[in-house]
Amino acid sequence: MGNELYHYDQVESTQEIVHQLAKQGKPHGTVVIADEQVKGKGRMARNWDSPKGKGIWMSILLRPNLPPLQAPQLTLLAATVLAKLIAENSDLNPQIKWPNDLLINHKKVSGILTEMQAEQDTIQYIVLGMGMNVNQGEDEIPEKIRYKASSLKVEGGHDWNIQATIQHILRLFERTYDVFESQGFETIKKEWEHFGYKIGEEITISTMKETWKATLIGIEPDGALRARRRNGREEKLYSAEIHWG
Ligand code: BTN
Repeated sequence: MGNELYHYDQVESTQEIVHQLAKQGKPHGTVVIADEQVKGKGRMARNWDSPKGKGIWMSILLRPNLPPLQAPQLTLLAATVLAKLIAENSDLNPQIKWPNDLLINHKKVSGILTEMQAEQDTIQYIVLGMGMNVNQGEDEIPEKIRYKASSLKVEGGHDWNIQATIQHILRLFERTYDVFESQGFETIKKEWEHFGYKIGEEITISTMKETWKATLIGIEPDGALRARRRNGREEKLYSAEIHWG
């Protein structure tokens, strides 16, 4: 990962740049990093606040040999990489809220945005974006989301070296991707579940259709979420929001 790496001071969104590079035929593993994004994108058309020099704003071009239905596995893989990185390099206890929000002390510090370009049953390419709040102080987290969002610095009490952390993420991503390619998703799934948030606990699930109480069981071999309704029936979910508390 990162054999071709493009570093910008400021961009609208690293996602868009990787889409352009993908269309120019750049190889698997091409990476774009920016110090600042002025139009950072989150999931569900939300904004992603990406202030200058305060976090990791990075997108990776992937050209996996996978059926499109398995693409969500890559998002779970990326979340696992970030959780492992934090766990191995601090006393913090990262948890992954399905599908791919990274929480510390119940607050979101990182999110992943996976955008896929597919034709018929073939993935052309995937743009995997990772955003991680690193060195924001508490007063630099937008006030209206302070109750649910945080940074590594706020939770751990010290600054992190952003460039070194990026290098570390890319190495760990490459190693984990190799395991995924050679052994399949099973190993990654176990690691994900080790960090899984509220697994075995009762939470509230909202889908497009309804909101219900459920116990989170874990993830399926294809990356879907498995949950049990109060009446005992189990469901497999591909798209849902989880709430708690
Ligand atoms: C989310 O949790 O909603 C996903 C956030 C993803 C943010 C990253 S930052 C790097 C890349 N470029 C973007 O514009 N978005 C992703």
